[in-house]
Amino acid sequence: MDAKQIEGDLALDQTYISEAEIQARLRELAGEISEDYDGKDLLLVGVLKGAVMVMADLARALERDVEMDWMAVSSYGSGTTSSGVVRILKDLDADLTDRHVLIVEDIIDSGLTLSWLTSNLRSRKPASVEICTLLRKPEALKMAVDVRYVGFDIPNAFVVGYGLDYDERYRNLRDIATLAPHVYS
Ligand code: XMP
Ligand code: MG
Repeated sequence: MDAKQIEGDLALDQTYISEAEIQARLRELAGEISEDYDGKDLLLVGVLKGAVMVMADLARALERDVEMDWMAVSSYGSGTTSSGVVRILKDLDADLTDRHVLIVEDIIDSGLTLSWLTSNLRSRKPASVEICTLLRKPEALKMAVDVRYVGFDIPNAFVVGYGLDYDERYRNLRDIATLAPHVYS
């Protein structure tokens, strides 16, 4: 699904970051990650479901072998604001002891989810825990989170596509688009 579908959809405002821009930025981040983890084993931890597309493209942009594992947490209902309450819906299969862990996320909004998640993973005795997120909304941050790799800093608007959903819709959009304000306000 791509920009042509956005034009005909009243719930969507406009393309915000194109597929080509996303892919170019992921290649840059993959280059940095490959350098930083040179000679170390690397475990990518994707946060379901939003990070599925970022994980698939970032992992394939790396010119090295990585392990991928997944976690599902819930901090949001079907709405657009964070509750701050995080629950593990699916835990990792991997044991993190002495592993270099890179959390792969679609978006950091308030930071509540990732701040909770990093401290949870750090308590499992890994060698290191860092974060890579495609998007970050600096204006929405409520908790300081130390993010090593950021794709794009974006304003405080609700975005969908490339894994990001509004009520489970639009995850398969290739680009990232803004949701029309009338949908959520
Ligand atoms: P916090 O606020 O804890 O939230 O950093 C992170 C999670 O909230 C979801 N989220 C969004 N999902 N468009 C979306 O489709 C957005 O603009 C948006 N902002 C936050 C997302 O699941 C993320 O993992
Ligand atoms: Mg998410």
